[in-house]
Amino acid sequence: MTKTLLLLPGDGIGPEVTAVARRVAGRLISQGLALDISEARFGGAAIDVDGVPLTAETLAQAKASDAVLMGAVGGPQWAGQPYDKRPEAGLLALRAGMNVYANLRPARCFSALADASSLKRIYVDGLDILFVRELTGGVYFGEPRGVETLADGQRRGVNTHVYTSSEIQRVARVAFDLARRRKSEVVSAEKSNVMEAGLLWREEVQALRDAEYQDIKLSHMLADNMAMQLVKQPKQFDVILTDNLFGDMLSDEAAMLTGSLGMLPSAAIGDPGAPGLYEPIHGSAPDIAGRGVANPCAAILSLAMGLRYSLGAPDLAARVEAAVEAALDAGARTSDLGGALTTAAMGDAVLAHLG
Ligand code: IPM
Ligand code: MG
Repeated sequence: MTKTLLLLPGDGIGPEVTAVARRVAGRLISQGLALDISEARFGGAAIDVDGVPLTAETLAQAKASDAVLMGAVGGPQWAGQPYDKRPEAGLLALRAGMNVYANLRPARCFSALADASSLKRIYVDGLDILFVRELTGGVYFGEPRGVETLADGQRRGVNTHVYTSSEIQRVARVAFDLARRRKSEVVSAEKSNVMEAGLLWREEVQALRDAEYQDIKLSHMLADNMAMQLVKQPKQFDVILTDNLFGDMLSDEAAMLTGSLGMLPSAAIGDPGAPGLYEPIHGSAPDIAGRGVANPCAAILSLAMGLRYSLGAPDLAARVEAAVEAALDAGARTSDLGGALTTAAMGDAVLAHLG
């Protein structure tokens, strides 16, 4: 049956990198993949036309697709607006609306790029961490939230870090299931030493492991210690499970270890069979937008994750990933990797290895 992919190019370099991912998908279609691709406005690009970053129609279209591939959102021209009129709000609404509660963020160091890392090669060569970040709960969504003015004239800003046991269990289940296909090891991070919700997180993750995943080696680490361990001995980690806020921070930290933010994809998935949302980890990079020099690999690899988790084509996912790696091994580099290839030329290099 023909699957559907919705592209949301978004802002900044988003349209440039998703265009390349689209060419890769087009190549697979010409080789027999049954896939329908459509496109919609999203983020700042939608604010400019529709007044909001995510229209109800676009959300409905996303929920009706098998997979959504997003480019990037945000830029200086929309900063300073109220939160609900910012591109980022569209992304949070899209994640919540699609109920994609588990964010898979691989931090994998390509051997050809190990010297681009801020750490020595021995610490990062072969690094392959999979973050499972909770994505639709915690302090980015908790109520109450807002800024109020107090009687004494001070202003008071509030956000609420909140998790229910079922929100913790469902994302932990995703982490344990993925760990079974890797090393069967999970490290869960929270701040149970100072936060009640962190202690709940730890208890629920442990209880699920004891009840259903006794084959998994589970350990717990305080999130601040993990931030340190990630730069001290990053290869000690395989699957890391953590909440929305800590996952946001720690996955950025780990991404940098690989030396190449422009290489890293992500997947956001929900219940089995529901559509997934795929996006590069990098942002909209306004400083280089429009120049055709952005690295399209993260977008291409995000497409690969979509092929694997939502489009029923894990074999094609592996082929796309191998083509990216082969292009790197052959020396293809965009400027973020110290080379001079344009976005389109990097796409050509990957396509050349895709056959
Ligand atoms: C990310 C980003 C987003 C987040 C922003 C753009 C809302 O930082 O995907 O990590 O905080 O989740
Ligand atoms: Mg982030």
